[in-house]
Amino acid sequence: MTELNLSGVEKAYGDIKVLHDIHLSIESREFVVFVGPSGCGKSTLLRCIAGLESITQGQIRIGNRDVTYLEPADRGVAMVFQSYALYPHMSVYDNIAFGLKMQKLPKEQIQAKVQNAARILQLEPLLDRKPKALSGGQRQRVAIGRAIVHEPEIFLFDEPLSNLDASLRVQMRIEIAKLHADLQATMVYVTHDQVEAMTLADKIVVLNKGCIEQVGSPLELYHHPRNRFVAGFIGSPQMSFLQVSAASVSTEGVEVILPGGGRLRVPVNGDGVKAGDALTLGLRPEHLSELGQGEAQIPAKALVVEHLGGETFTHAETADGADLMIKGDGMSQVKAGQQLSIGVSGGRCHLFNAQGQALPHRVHYTDRAAEEAAQLPGSAAVAG
Ligand SMILES: Nc1ncnc2c1ncn2[C@@H]1O[C@H](COP(=O)(O)OP(=O)(O)OP(=O)(O)O)[C@@H](O)[C@H]1O
Ligand SMILES: [Mg+2]
Repeated sequence: MTELNLSGVEKAYGDIKVLHDIHLSIESREFVVFVGPSGCGKSTLLRCIAGLESITQGQIRIGNRDVTYLEPADRGVAMVFQSYALYPHMSVYDNIAFGLKMQKLPKEQIQAKVQNAARILQLEPLLDRKPKALSGGQRQRVAIGRAIVHEPEIFLFDEPLSNLDASLRVQMRIEIAKLHADLQATMVYVTHDQVEAMTLADKIVVLNKGCIEQVGSPLELYHHPRNRFVAGFIGSPQMSFLQVSAASVSTEGVEVILPGGGRLRVPVNGDGVKAGDALTLGLRPEHLSELGQGEAQIPAKALVVEHLGGETFTHAETADGADLMIKGDGMSQVKAGQQLSIGVSGGRCHLFNAQGQALPHRVHYTDRAAEEAAQLPGSAAVAG
């Protein structure tokens, strides 16, 4: 069932339009993540859904209700902010109970709801403490507790973990995933963190300058970005981009001329492309081989080698100054300054036309994965 529907939503502050013609459907119980560069409109869109900002045009529906002109409290949503916004003079219990007291709910009901939220969030031993006596993660759990007691149809989270240190973020990320599973609620979540977006989302919405660039599952966006913007935004370290020219176009794909003169056939639909056209080739770090393995090679010089233990990232540069990032295993022997012949295979590459639109892959990643599994020894037995 569609839980939240945005149709033609626009938002302007005076003459400045910050959201343009947003159309988005979110299903019941879905976990949807908004990502995009700073200032692209993620918080504004979330605040429009919450009713904290009015919209200039369009319609917002929750369930089968038009909520476009409803007050925040009447929309059935609860929002958790980056700054926990707790009342410093109140205990954890009173912070969580505050909204319910304002609604003048009977005391026993308030107590039951607060106890239930505290149990889910493991805050029971901390209910008498003041916020200043809590860690960052505990404070954020209180803020989430305040949302839970309202039993909203939709939870809205605006970068709830970005004030936490790295290890606490990982822990809280897992807790939010568990919370989603326990509450079976619809969640809309804004983050800058690639890992949070990839791991938490059923569906990622990539925003850019107030417009939706692409909506899809994390792996769909990773393997089939619709354009150069999404390709560069999803994935860390980023995809590398090389300027290439088309040598020939056939039903098999587009053959391109690589820096250094090598040729590579990329199995994409080349409709509208002709020999000589300038294209952009997109290469993910894990699809490049510092050992030269692949269907073609690109000469490049290693500039910086980063050993992370389990993996190694090599920043390299082609003769005409294009950057390449290569992921190797932890035992990589590459040294800065070394001349490399970097291996690449067409099936893993992305091609973009002059307008930055991706040429569609001929094979979907799920089919490719199945095909590759079928070639591995033992997989026939599994399939059989
Ligand atoms: N009250 C306001 N008046 C005018 N412009 C505003 C107002 N609030 C936000 N904006 C502008 O709207 C745009 C979107 O802001 P928003 O806060 O939604 O971005 P964001 O994607 O959440 O960014 P960040 O990742 O930095 O949090 C920005 O260009 C911002 O300057
Ligand atoms: Mg924001």
